[in-house]
Amino acid sequence: MRLHQQGRSLTVETPAKLNLFLELLGRRPDGYHELETLLISVGLYDTLVFTPADSDQIELVWGSRGTGLPADLPVDERNLIIRAARLLRQHTGTNQGAHITLHKRIPVEAGMGGGSSDAAATLVGLNRVWKLGLPMSELHNLAATLGSDVNFFLDSPVAAVGRGRGEQITPVDVRGVLPFVIVKPHSGCSTAAVFRHVQLPSAPKSITTLCSALGTGQTQHVAKLLHNALQAPVVDLNVDVALTLQTLQQQDVLAAGMTGSGSACFGLCRSVRQARTIARRLSSQELGQVFSATSLT
Ligand code: C5P
Repeated sequence: MRLHQQGRSLTVETPAKLNLFLELLGRRPDGYHELETLLISVGLYDTLVFTPADSDQIELVWGSRGTGLPADLPVDERNLIIRAARLLRQHTGTNQGAHITLHKRIPVEAGMGGGSSDAAATLVGLNRVWKLGLPMSELHNLAATLGSDVNFFLDSPVAAVGRGRGEQITPVDVRGVLPFVIVKPHSGCSTAAVFRHVQLPSAPKSITTLCSALGTGQTQHVAKLLHNALQAPVVDLNVDVALTLQTLQQQDVLAAGMTGSGSACFGLCRSVRQARTIARRLSSQELGQVFSATSLT
């Protein structure tokens, strides 16, 4: 997460994530799934600009520097930005208002954490512009109530293991950068709908070997260890994801996979140059939104 203060306004750039590993460990009494996942930040950013308001209104508007914004993305309570802002007010008792501009570049319903990243940026941004002075530990408690991925973006590590619902974060060292080509098919996936279709594995895979491979920078080894327990159910539900994975696998990438609950899929590439070349090639194929991006350093 990158912060720049300009006059009364604070600009926050907050990244997307990919899940290189996601295993289901069990179902919980609260309806969530216990999981183990490897999240890695990639250089595709939403930008949020926070300006304290003279009134007590919280106003969210779309910024012109965004791309591919669906017309029906809500600006009310259904949006995690508004929910994060209201939660901060409720928690601290402040009635300050804010004007928030969102330049949206991270695709929605993609499994790339866009909504969660925006929520984390809102907690950090409004804590600063409203001069609330909440410590990170308190922001983390609030983050966990907003969604399972929000805690990851609050700390903004290069990579981390997520446990529990995904909200218990342990940073992981990554040597070098990993180049990706990312394709978000035209259709999206609802996380809740995907989780309703999953079956628990009889022998869950371990995340440990992948963490070691990331630390030693052995990209070819990392490629062999990609895993996502949600991928098979999504491929059954969404023909666009099946087609996207097939197309990526035909591109001489080291490995292809789906991130989170989809629908975005990625190819782990041999070099930044290869990632760019494949992105250019796929951009002309009407598959959806295509990006090349690397992991952060
Ligand atoms: O936490 P988040 O809002 O991202 O989750 C959306 C939905 O995905 C949850 O309501 C739940 O149905 C499902 N989910 C789950 N187990 C998780 C995370 C999410 O079942 N660990």
